[in-house]
Amino acid sequence: MDKMWSGRFSKGASSLLDAFNASIMFDRKLYREDIEGSIAHATMLAKQNILTQEELDSIIKGLNQVKDEIESGEFEWKISDEDLHMGIEKRLTALIGDAGKKLHTARSRNDQVAVDFRRYVLRKNKELVIAIKQVMAVLVQTASNHTQTLLPGMTHLQHAQPINFAFHLLAYVSMFKRDIERFESSYERNNFSPLGCAALAGTPHKIDREYTAELLGFNSVSVNCLDTVSDRDFALEILFNISTMMMHISRLSEELVMWSSYEFKFIELSDEYSTGSSIMPQKKNPDVPELLRGKTGRVYGSLMGLLTVMKGLPLAYNKDTQEDKEGVFDAVETAELSLEILKEALATMDIKVDNMHKACKVGHLSATDLADYLVERCGIPFREAHFITGKAVAKSEELKIDLSDIAYEELHKIDERIQSDVIEKLSIVNSMNARTSQGGTSTQGTLEQLAYFKNYLGVK
Ligand code: ARG
Repeated sequence: MDKMWSGRFSKGASSLLDAFNASIMFDRKLYREDIEGSIAHATMLAKQNILTQEELDSIIKGLNQVKDEIESGEFEWKISDEDLHMGIEKRLTALIGDAGKKLHTARSRNDQVAVDFRRYVLRKNKELVIAIKQVMAVLVQTASNHTQTLLPGMTHLQHAQPINFAFHLLAYVSMFKRDIERFESSYERNNFSPLGCAALAGTPHKIDREYTAELLGFNSVSVNCLDTVSDRDFALEILFNISTMMMHISRLSEELVMWSSYEFKFIELSDEYSTGSSIMPQKKNPDVPELLRGKTGRVYGSLMGLLTVMKGLPLAYNKDTQEDKEGVFDAVETAELSLEILKEALATMDIKVDNMHKACKVGHLSATDLADYLVERCGIPFREAHFITGKAVAKSEELKIDLSDIAYEELHKIDERIQSDVIEKLSIVNSMNARTSQGGTSTQGTLEQLAYFKNYLGVK
């Protein structure tokens, strides 16, 4: 019976229980946080005269050795140790003897795991912000070259009004900026230390929680211990933040897939980020954006999974909570990989400006401009102008031309208030540039948006 908690048991645990109960095969990812947490805890215990200086020195030396063993691959992770906390403490005690047995004074695995996991999540909130900014920088860079590249703006996936490609890309940059703000605010909200909450109710030992919080880089100390050892909001938040970010990535990916098709051919992904077919020799498939879209579903699954784990738990710690880690690790690693490959795929794709321009010559993209002309130039109420424009669209369809190519005479026949100066209003580029209202697509407006995001990212 080698369990740390075996005192009250008369029979050893079955190996089936060991396999079912253990988290050590996945929570070992938190070994750095765990060792740093233990060093901070021991340092505080020594400051409070709960440990002697010699005991502290020997604990720190021992923990650093354990860390070296883990990093060199020497460390033996044993299912029977249950979790990394006990695995590490056991090895420490084997190395240094009795001082190792004092480390857990005024601490429980409940506050220990809360510290480790919270610090991992806080760190990942920060790292993901950096990775998102790199994707934004590629989008902004690409946008700089395309403020005059026309493409059809769509609603219902139907041609609506002409926009420029930079404007379209900056819509995604806007989404990613909100994602960053979410990661940053989660970081601030959850940046408090659980250490010293012990099992659930605090401890009679004269500890100094402010001190360990400071040593571990937390902003402050949690207020209510019962809440703190039960709280996994920080994990739910990063799952939600990643889910929302992946939803944005997935929408962009959907467009990349569509734009890669022969029906659109607005872009071509580089060979490095495309795949072939095992049977059809001609195929070049957009597996990267497809997988980004697909992985989004998996990340949502982790969010739903943890929300469901948490929903019925009475206070305080319950072992159900151990199910919090794998989903978060998986979502974080998926997000990191996704951002990395999205950045590369975007940076290397070929943008087919001519095809975008050609696509603007179908679908009567400047119809709204004709209606706007009738309002502005002829004083016609918008509803009536809409109707007259509908007639002009029907005429263009009959003539098998785009409205932007219709002759002035045809329009004059439909309504004699229409003058020859209408023609310039119907050109696609003028239509795009006419949208000068704040946040609109005109090249001038797009350049202002570009400047805003460059300033935000600190790039030129
Ligand atoms: N392995 C556990 C987890 O991940 C650590 C906390 C265990 N605490 C307990 N009282 N059993 O949640």
